[in-house]
Amino acid sequence: MEDTFGRKIEYLRLSVTDRCNLRCRYCMPADGVESMDHVSVLSYEELLRVARVATRCGVKKIRVTGGEPLVRRGIVDFIRELAALPGSPEITLTTNGLLLADMAADLRRVGLSRVNVSLDSLREDRFAYITRRSGVDKVLAGLKEAEAAGLTPLKINMVPLKGVNEDEIGDFARLALESPWEIRFIEFMPVSGGLDFTPEHMFPASAILEELGKVAKLIPLLRQGPSGPARMFHFPESPGKIGVIPAISDHFCGECNRMRITSDGRIRPCLFSTEELDLRGALRNRVSDTELEELLGTAACAKPERHHIGEETFRQGLRRMHGIGG
Ligand code: 5AD
Ligand code: SF4
Repeated sequence: MEDTFGRKIEYLRLSVTDRCNLRCRYCMPADGVESMDHVSVLSYEELLRVARVATRCGVKKIRVTGGEPLVRRGIVDFIRELAALPGSPEITLTTNGLLLADMAADLRRVGLSRVNVSLDSLREDRFAYITRRSGVDKVLAGLKEAEAAGLTPLKINMVPLKGVNEDEIGDFARLALESPWEIRFIEFMPVSGGLDFTPEHMFPASAILEELGKVAKLIPLLRQGPSGPARMFHFPESPGKIGVIPAISDHFCGECNRMRITSDGRIRPCLFSTEELDLRGALRNRVSDTELEELLGTAACAKPERHHIGEETFRQGLRRMHGIGG
């Protein structure tokens, strides 16, 4: 599958639920979101069919996201079936880690290869403020179990927010001095309206790099293949790595190899565009596999060349991250 700009689409992100056991302020309103009814959400059978057709079209890596994917019942069996698809795609998972301690070993056993754990503070009071729930100790236990289970290299995603947690960038970075983890700092993307964190909370990649430089000498690593949007670094002799994702300030659209499926069955060719294609309708109208392939191909062609955040014409979308999967 190739798009109009010659980008090969090899990476599929599947959002399996829009529900979550946290209420991160940049993602959800305080009272959560009205849960989608069950018929709106793609069934595991439907998701598997899409994944199977996508691997035939060249998708090699599938990331399971949410909301929080581990809250959906049956997720371990679903991952087992994904991993067993023809072509053996690499299966990864993005999670907030709350349920990971109990599930890591099972997930590994059924063929999950790695996890990205989202964590924005190491301090319980801050964690509780940002996520409106408690549980940093559970996430840390989850990281330990994931490592023990071999879901490695373990990656941690941290979103620095100005005036909220930017003073913890150093603490997070030091985790890479102690363990072979990849600590990734994601520039806050003010893509959804009506939430507590606004464009004023953006802490730009340049400032993140400055904070990182205070920890130790930051050495750039050469890109190894399609590593996605992260710029990679390490510290002298650190077992771990540092990633910085300049989501807004330096768009990496030219290297974008991904496509997203929302939990209610829309294809999002681009995270930052409001354009969506109706996959659920197609699936439930009993389209053939060939027609599904065509739909995925059309979606690939609908990927815009680049995003326009920060430009005057950009409009915030109504859909929030918990429905898209980051
Ligand atoms: N800006 C940057 N990162 C975000 N995430 C969710 N919403 C945003 C946002 N507005 C991150 C989560 C998680 C990943 C899936 O996306 O923290 O790490
Ligand atoms: Fe849940 Fe992730 Fe949204 Fe936080 S950012 S509320 S963990 S879906």
